[in-house]
Amino acid sequence: MSSESRGILIVDLGAQYTQLIARRVREAGAWSEIAPAVKALDQARGMDLGGIILSGGPASVYSDEAPPVDPGLLELGVPVLGICYGMQWMCHVLDGGEVLAADEREYGHTQMQVADATGLLDGVEGEVRVWMSHGDRVESIPSGFRLQASSATCPFAVVADDARRFYGVQFHPEVSHTERGRDILRNFLYGICGMPGDWVAEGIAEREIRKVRELVGEDGEVVLGLSGGVDSAVAAMIVHKAIGDRLHCIFVDNGLLRKNEVSVVEEAFHQHLGMDLTTVDAADRFLGKLAGVTDPELKRKAIGYTFIDVFRDEAKRFNHANFLGQGTLYPDVIESVAVHGGNTAVIKSHHNVGGLPDDLEMELVEPLRELFKDEVREVGRHLGVDERILMRQPFPGPGLAVRIVGEVTQERCELLREADHIVTSEIQAAGAHEGLWQYFAVLLPVKSVGVMGDARTYENACALRIVESQDGMTADWGYLDHELLRKISNRIINEVRGINRVVLDISSKPPSTIEWE
Ligand code: XMP
Repeated sequence: MSSESRGILIVDLGAQYTQLIARRVREAGAWSEIAPAVKALDQARGMDLGGIILSGGPASVYSDEAPPVDPGLLELGVPVLGICYGMQWMCHVLDGGEVLAADEREYGHTQMQVADATGLLDGVEGEVRVWMSHGDRVESIPSGFRLQASSATCPFAVVADDARRFYGVQFHPEVSHTERGRDILRNFLYGICGMPGDWVAEGIAEREIRKVRELVGEDGEVVLGLSGGVDSAVAAMIVHKAIGDRLHCIFVDNGLLRKNEVSVVEEAFHQHLGMDLTTVDAADRFLGKLAGVTDPELKRKAIGYTFIDVFRDEAKRFNHANFLGQGTLYPDVIESVAVHGGNTAVIKSHHNVGGLPDDLEMELVEPLRELFKDEVREVGRHLGVDERILMRQPFPGPGLAVRIVGEVTQERCELLREADHIVTSEIQAAGAHEGLWQYFAVLLPVKSVGVMGDARTYENACALRIVESQDGMTADWGYLDHELLRKISNRIINEVRGINRVVLDISSKPPSTIEWE
């Protein structure tokens, strides 16, 4: 991947935090890309390189598993910051350095004493709380290096060689547990690498619009599937800005969408922005494929395949269009077996229901391919994408189907859609959605007895799923005020004919998951 902006190359040495480093660098306003160790030197040579960050990693420099880093990275004449394992590797390969193998890891907070608050530690003085996670440690530093900070357990917490502009930190400045971590990274980016600080929404948007224009040319046409979510919306916006009415959007109504979803999408993209949008009513096709299916995985597969079939049929109508637009994000692209250079892409397989067949024989246009989710929102906001779409809760590709436990029928979809609409609108009206990751209703395959007026009812139960999370990987159930819960429950039971009981899901992830299927 090459970039037109001056960038920082982050060499992935196997750390769980590599993506976080890239995000922190970008949040600070500098372009960054990630390279697997084995490809790093080539990638570095192909970009306008402002500096290199060597990530942490689980290996020991002495182990057979040590990532194959090319020492040529230290000869490119740019500043290098080694974080944790990255620092150990530098000290191991440079003359005079020595790394001591350790059997145990040091993990957690430690107090670091700063002896020299200059350069990387400019303005970072006294005692600083830092987050450590390492096994081996540096025993002696290479010639030309000096010590800037240490802790009780780690004599070389920060080291620097100002002449060669090589820096090493044993702790993790990228994690939020490290005080002043952002300042330390900023010192590296601006004080040491002299980055231009041009990575802001406006610049990102302009750059991606320009790239789409160049790729698609004067008369190319793009077909793009909108999902109603943020990513495809922002991708469409960028392509539309680039080529106007040569973009054709397709929105598949699979009958598993939330209430008003079709009208929000049509209003935002067609009426408001004037995009060419075709809404395909494919509800019967999807529900037909789901008839009698109760196994969660089979449901997901049926939906995925049907989506591809429907999209392929629609795309045929645009057979003059030679490009296919997609909202693929950077985390989906970064190679996972990065350290040893495998080519396996990280794909949240069961999550990528929108994955399209490659036999469409169209060239891909992926304007978000180099962006993280938070950057996508920023760019979308800058370009004027409807706030209702930008701030949407994540919604799974298979839609309401994974929230209807058991068989999915039109009637059950209707029940859930109504109940879910009450949950969403009440929580938003109360302003309680701030800080929540998702809040929705789940229809259970359970009937129970109730009494309404003087009559006995025997109807469905639904669960409220309200979660807090940073990224969907882990989650905790979110607290809602009892009065608000009461209101939601009363409204569902009174207004949704067919539901007579509401229960609250108080499970965290792990061991549960956010969606029920
Ligand atoms: P789970 O249920 O795995 O969900 O805890 C984690 C997050 O992912 C969303 N999710 C999906 N998103 N396609 C998507 O685009 C899917 O198939 C899918 N399944 C789950 C879920 O809503 C939650 O935010």
